Parts: sequence; structure tokens; C-alpha cells
Amino acid sequence: MSLFVDALQRKNTQRPPLWLMRQAGRYHSHYQDLRKEHSFEELCKRPQLATKATLGPIQGFDFDAAILFSDILFPLEAMGMGLRYDPHPQLRWRLRETADLKKFTKPKALELEFQALAIQKIRTKLSQEKGLIGFVGAPLTLFYYAVCGSHRGDLEPARERVENGLYHSFCQLLLPLLTQNMAAQAKAGADVIAIFDTCAGDLPLEMLTYYGIPPLRDLLAGFRQLCPQFPVLYYSKGTTVAYYEALRSLSIQAYGIDWNINLSEFLEKFHQTHAVQGNIDPRWLLEDKHLCKQRLEKFFTTIKSLPPSYREGWICGLGHGVLPKTPEENVKLLVELQRKSFN
Ligand code: CP3
Repeated sequence: MSLFVDALQRKNTQRPPLWLMRQAGRYHSHYQDLRKEHSFEELCKRPQLATKATLGPIQGFDFDAAILFSDILFPLEAMGMGLRYDPHPQLRWRLRETADLKKFTKPKALELEFQALAIQKIRTKLSQEKGLIGFVGAPLTLFYYAVCGSHRGDLEPARERVENGLYHSFCQLLLPLLTQNMAAQAKAGADVIAIFDTCAGDLPLEMLTYYGIPPLRDLLAGFRQLCPQFPVLYYSKGTTVAYYEALRSLSIQAYGIDWNINLSEFLEKFHQTHAVQGNIDPRWLLEDKHLCKQRLEKFFTTIKSLPPSYREGWICGLGHGVLPKTPEENVKLLVELQRKSFN
């Protein structure tokens, strides 16, 4: 019924599905128009508006999957960190020392109910042929935001605190909330829950393995109690193949990778066990149309030359999100070329 769901199950699809992280974003006139009328928070928190924002890129570009219009930082707000977008996210305080732990309020999953309500609404309006993606931020990435307020500038304060007890205490508060949040989105009608670990690449592999994996394992174990079979996609940025190897013992069905990883080699390694999403360099879409076309065609030719079984679980997408200044024309070109290449 849905290319996206079939690919997640690594079934042979007629064409690999295509969707893009941040497909509902500032590059798209539909989104810009919505933002003239509403704040980002309103768009996220009012299910009717979140539905509109989510469906904009499906209507505009006919992607094979929709992603809930929301943000990974709302669980931090539900824990009492205060959050506004200006337009970059701003937390009211930073987690810096043990005394700060007292500032967290008891997190309530109900405060995130707007996401499940939006998913229900989206599902009623989205064709059965399209996939629907729910998501959360990974514990490590949310810790980086709690400590540094962003993923820009000096990240040393987060890196240091991963090694002390603060991170562990934070995870203990966060994990029950995230587990329930994932289950609520799954039950509302998502086809997969993505876990976005954008900050993972900031840690060297040994530290990432030692500190990043245990809370992920706990998160997945909790989720598996509530949703034993539900597909999970794990995306990380700036990491290596060795890291994905280290994740093998976790209950993850799909890996999202950035553009620094060789997709052909990755598919060869993981196609028998994981669906794989990625990994076009988002910057290619900023190039003039001719160059963009050349790069995309070369990319598709490479993937097409692989044994067909390698790409049965391939979900075509970017290595990260669509950049705000991307011309819509190039997004259309990507969709067109992808269809032509695999039909
Ligand atoms: O279309 C989609 O992909 C769904 C919507 C989505 C948003 N954020 C909307 C958004 C998703 C999946 C996210 C996830 C998210 N949010 C991540 C993980 C994935 C990634 O992109 O790395 C992270 C790290 C965040 C935190 C966050 N929220 C940042 C860093 C920013 C600023 C981004 C920027 O480019 O200025 C946001 C705000 C945000 N989230 C916007 C959107 C569309 C921009 C809001 C606006 O300016 O109108």
C-alpha cells in the first residue's frame, strides 16, 4: 500500500520512497505563508495547523512520506525548561550543575498530547499510499540542548558533563517521558518513530559508545514494552559506520545517515538487517539547476548500479534537513529525477 512502509520492512518496492527531513520549512512558500499568520509554536501546538504544515510539502512535492510538524525540544519544555523560538530555540535556563536538577518539574506526557492529536488528524487526511513519521530527539542530543541551549558554538560544557552524574540524572528524568511520547505518537497513527541524534557526532566514538548507547538502549527497551513490534528509525549526524555497527544489538529497524558516509558501502553492510535512509548532501540543492541535476543523476546512477537487493530497504532522502535557502525548483527536480531514475 505504501512505498515507505514497504521499504521500512525491506520489501522489494517498485521505487525507493522519498521524503526529506525539514521538508516543511522555510524554503517552502507554503510554510512561509503559514508563518506570516502564526508563530512556530502555534503551528506545532494547534493540531489543525500542525496538520496543515505537515501536509504542505506532500501537496507541493508529492513526497512519499509526511513527517509530523513539531520539534524535538518540546519534552524539555514539558520538564520545565521554558522554551520559545526567536526564531532559534531558546530555553529559559541551562542545565549546568547538580543543583539545577531541582528546577525540573515532574514531566507530564499529557503536555505533549498535541503531537498525538496532530498525528490522528494528519492520518485522516493523508492518503494511505503515504507514510507518516513521528519523532523524538535522542537523549544525548536533548542533553546537549539542555546544557548548551543549541548545537552551535562551544559544546565543551555538554561534552564535559556527559562524563559526570548530571547526564545520568537528566536521562532518568527524561526517559519515561520520551518513552511515553514515542508510544503516544505510534498509537495515534504514525508508521515509524524517528529518533534524531543530531549531536551524536560531537563525541568521539568511544565516548559515544560508552555514554550515548546506554540511554538509547533503555529508551528502546521501554518503548518495546509498550509497542513491541513498532518500527524505529535512528538518525545521527557526524558519526561513522563503526558507530552504527555498535548499535546493532539495539532494537532499531532503520538507520538514517549523513552525507559523509558512503551509501553504497553502508547498504552493502546493512541491507540484510536494516532499512537505510539518506544521504544526499543538502548543499547540492543550493547549486544552480544544472549542477544540481548533474550531482543527483550521478548519485542515482551509483545506487542503481548496486545489486537490487541492496536497495530494497533504501529510503531516499538527504543526509540532514533541507536548508532554508533551497530553491523549490531544485526540490521539484530531485523528486522528478528520483522518479525517472527508478521507474
Ligand atoms: O519537516 C520536518 O522535518 C518536520 C519538522 C521538524 C522541525 N524540527 C521543525 C522546525 C523536525 C523533524 C525538527 C527536529 C529538530 N528540531 C531537530 C533534529 C533534526 C535536525 O534538524 O537536526 C533539532 C536539532 C531541532 C531543534 C531546532 N528546532 C533547531 C536547531 C531549530 C532552528 C532551526 C533553524 O534552521 O533555524 C528549530 C526550529 C525549527 N524546527 C524550525 C522548523 C521548521 C524553524 C522555525 C522557523 O524559523 O519558522
